[in-house]
Amino acid sequence: MADGLKDKVVLVTGASRGIGASTVRSLAREGARVIAHYGRGKAEAGAVVSEFGGNCVAIGADLSSEGGADSLWRQAEAWKGHVDVIVNNAAAVVPMTIDDDDATWRRTWRDAVQINLFSLADLCRHAIHHFQKKGGGIVINIASRAAFRGDDAHLMHYAATKGGVVAFTRSIAKSYAKDKVLAYVVAPGFVRVERQEGVIKRRGLDTMLRDIPLGEMAKPEDVATIIAFLASGVARHATGATIDINGASYFH
Ligand SMILES: NC(=O)c1ccc[n+]([C@@H]2O[C@H](COP(=O)([O-])OP(=O)(O)OC[C@H]3O[C@@H](n4cnc5c(N)ncnc54)[C@H](OP(=O)(O)O)[C@@H]3O)[C@@H](O)[C@H]2O)c1
Repeated sequence: MADGLKDKVVLVTGASRGIGASTVRSLAREGARVIAHYGRGKAEAGAVVSEFGGNCVAIGADLSSEGGADSLWRQAEAWKGHVDVIVNNAAAVVPMTIDDDDATWRRTWRDAVQINLFSLADLCRHAIHHFQKKGGGIVINIASRAAFRGDDAHLMHYAATKGGVVAFTRSIAKSYAKDKVLAYVVAPGFVRVERQEGVIKRRGLDTMLRDIPLGEMAKPEDVATIIAFLASGVARHATGATIDINGASYFH
């Protein structure tokens, strides 16, 4: 990746754990200055940034509230005076089905849209305005395989928000390429983060692997490496593309 990431300022949302934490590490090891956003995981995000001294900073913001994304962007931009790349990784994965009561159905849908799509859109809006002024920048939005093939009955709302992320990101790529804004979707399948351990226990690892021709779940680092590659700026002509990270499971 040569010097592509050296001293670039990158905002990574949802960096207290999982793919986000791993992404901060991949970027910082390549010399980037990284803003590691967290929601509730202040201590966890603090531990990640402490590995890289003053080259990383942790900033908290609740993306389930209107205005959370605005406050995060303001603080992120203020840190070094500019941002070169935004990685929208934070998301809520809260199960719920059509058999839940009305209040749960509406609240869970609203939260999923607010966190996974609306806050992401707010952050992209700030980033695009900022990139237009400074002559370009990179948007990397984390979607999911679920955006393309749907999800199980308990995560239909989650899948729908990720479908929105894909359409929105492609629209950014088309509309703002003229301003040197590049936009990519990264769409993981099953990634073995802490949150998935409960799912593995419930469904059984063998059942989950049956879906993945490669025969293994991706590690957070597998996704982080791709994000760092895109953030380095070497894939300009791939703007608008979706990078699938799912061990060929579309073809199964
Ligand atoms: N893991 C997979 O198998 C998989 C598969 C497909 C797609 N993805 C996508 O990849 C991304 C990362 O997934 P992951 O599994 O690494 O996630 P994760 O371990 O569940 O972590 C989610 C992150 O999002 C943050 N977040 C959630 N709700 C928030 C809120 N209201 N305000 C602020 N931050 C909030 C969390 O912050 P705090 O903990 O600090 O509150 C945490 O840092 C997500 O977009 C997910 O949809 C993951």
